Parts: sequence; C-alpha cells; structure tokens
Amino acid sequence: MRNKQVIFRDFLAKGAFPKESDMEVTESTVDVTRAVAEGSKGVLVKNLYLSCDPYMRGGMRKLTDPAESYAASFQPGSPVTGFGVARVLESGHRKFEKGDLVWGLTGWEEYSLLPAPETCFKIEHTDVPLSYYTGLLGMPGLRAYAGFFELCSPKKGETVFISAASGAVGQLAGQFAKLFGCYVVGSAGSKEKVDLLKNKLGFDEAFNYKEESNLDAALKRYFPEGIDIYFENVGGKDYNLEQPKGVPNLIQISMKEVRMEGFSVLDYYHLYLKFLNMVLPQIKEGRIVYVEDTFKGLENGPAALVGLFSNCDVGKQVILVSRE
Ligand SMILES: NC(=O)c1ccc[n+]([C@@H]2O[C@H](COP(=O)([O-])OP(=O)(O)OC[C@H]3O[C@@H](n4cnc5c(N)ncnc54)[C@H](OP(=O)(O)O)[C@@H]3O)[C@@H](O)[C@H]2O)c1
Repeated sequence: MRNKQVIFRDFLAKGAFPKESDMEVTESTVDVTRAVAEGSKGVLVKNLYLSCDPYMRGGMRKLTDPAESYAASFQPGSPVTGFGVARVLESGHRKFEKGDLVWGLTGWEEYSLLPAPETCFKIEHTDVPLSYYTGLLGMPGLRAYAGFFELCSPKKGETVFISAASGAVGQLAGQFAKLFGCYVVGSAGSKEKVDLLKNKLGFDEAFNYKEESNLDAALKRYFPEGIDIYFENVGGKDYNLEQPKGVPNLIQISMKEVRMEGFSVLDYYHLYLKFLNMVLPQIKEGRIVYVEDTFKGLENGPAALVGLFSNCDVGKQVILVSRE
C-alpha cells in the first residue's frame, strides 16, 4: 500500500524559523497485512488527523542536553512526529484491537507502525468531531484544564488575563475561566483574532497587542484593580530565538506576592478522564466553542506547521489526512 509521508530533512539552527523546505513530502510503501511482527506489542495505525503544536519546533533541533526540551528530536530522513488521531489496523498490544480509534504520538504519514502504543489513549466518545482529539479533547485541552484548574487555583470573580488567547490552549483556558465565573481578557495578534475572542469565544474583553504602544497602559485599562491570574501562552515564541528574552521587573514577584509556575502537561495525564467528564457535557450543551483551522491533505502539513510560527494561525491547526 502507498504510504505518503512528510519527511523531516535536517536539524535547524537554534535561531532559525522553520520553513516548508525543512520538510519534504514523499511516498513509500507499507504492507498493511504484515506490518506488526509476530510477538511485537506494536500497532499499525491509519492516521486520520495530525496536530501542529509549538513544541514541535523543539524536535527540529539537535538536542545537546535533554533538559533543553521535553520533545525528543525528530530523526532527519524520517517522518515528522506529533500528536494525531488514528484508527488501529493491526494490533500486537492487548490494550488495542483492530478498528479502535486512538489519539497520541504518531508519524506524519498515512500509515504508522507505533512500537510502544501504550501512551496512546483509546477514543471512547465518537459523538464529537474526531479532530477534537488533537486539541480540545487532546493534549492542548488537558494543558488548559490542568493549568487553569490545578495550577491557577481560581476563585469565582477573579480577573484573568490570557495571552495568545486565540491559540489552541488560550481559547480553552479563557472559556474554562469564563464558565468558572471569572472576568477574562485575552490578547492576540490581529483584528480577526480579537473579534473571535469577543464575539465567538465569549471573552469579556480582548485587544490586539500589536496595536498597543504601551502594554502596561493597555493592561491597566482592562484591569484597573489588577490581574489575579495570568495564563501565559507566548513562551513558545522563544523556540525560534537564539537568545530567549528575560523577564524584567522580577522584584514585583515578592512585592506583590506573585506565584509563577511552569508545568508540563505530561505530568497531568492522570487527570484525563476527570477532564473528559467535565468538558464533554460542556461541548454537547454548546457551552464551549472550539475553533480549528483545517489543512486538507498530508501534503499541506509543512505549510500548516510553518504557519504556526508566523502567527498565520487562527485557532487550532489540524491536518486532515483521511476521514476514515
Ligand atoms: N509544556 C507543555 O506541556 C505545553 C503543552 C501545550 C502547549 N504548551 C505551550 O503553550 C503555548 C500555547 O500553545 P498553543 O498550542 O495554544 O499554541 P498556538 O495555538 O500555536 O498559539 C500560539 C500563539 O502564540 C502567538 N505567537 C506566536 N509567535 C509569537 C511571537 N513571536 N510573539 C508573540 N506571540 C506569538 C500567536 O498568536 P498571536 O497572533 O495572537 O500572537 C500564536 O497563535 C505555547 O507556548 C506552547 O509551547 C506547553
């Protein structure tokens, strides 16, 4: 069987922005009837949707120190790897059967052999769009949920500021905060994104940070009494910088008794079922709106991924490989 693939060409320099030419769309073949070796615990999957996430920039550079990134480096000459939704075609693993739908780490290709599929989640709820498992019901959704409810310890009526608020995580963190009863303001990089936040996603206010000559003044305008929770989403821009910028004014951390904390969603996977139980009814009752930007066809994968780093994205960037 033909297996179209998006191959990662070679590592990028630290300060370089990813380009489409860093990837190449090629074709190989796969024997879908005999791909899983006798005795192996692997599964062969047909990829349906693939996710573009900022952390993937970390995979594009050669890591000298594993502490530099939680993403493993891509292998030059092999398919790009990332989160996706897939159907199991053949399984050597007792947790999965032929026909199961799963989400987790897979390859940017039509068919992938996953040698260690135990990190994948089986998809039990199919009465929502399957693509949601790359975002709202997948890793970014869990990040928004764990970040807001577990780390921010919100109280009703608190004031919440969300940066990159129209992105995959930001749009959800903002809506969780609104549903919880907070006052929520988001910042984003275009008029279209700001309109989306205010008119579709239900944020109390939103502003275009590119049009504000004085960000302090903008924040004072929307938060005259101050900000209780800042959910930061633009750290990912540092992936492309040779020399990440520092945070000035750290003295305020102790003056204002601020708590600042980073986290990895990987440490919150145990909350996934709790998260699903909270979010699925909200989706079905229409209380959560979710915005996706779908690129049809694996061959458009490089453009989708590159767009993520040039702020062309609105909502969650998803690649539709195959509907079934
Ligand atoms: N540690 C973890 O476990 C984990 C998991 C998931 C996500 N994350 C992090 O969470 C953040 C949000 O993820 P996401 O999936 O929501 O990303 P996303 O959908 O790609 O949104 C990122 C947004 O950041 C803004 N941006 C990009 N480059 C920028 C720049 N140079 N300056 C200012 N803003 C820029 C863009 O929005 P504007 O056009 O509005 O500026 C872009 O839409 C990222 O930093 C990501 O790395 C971490």
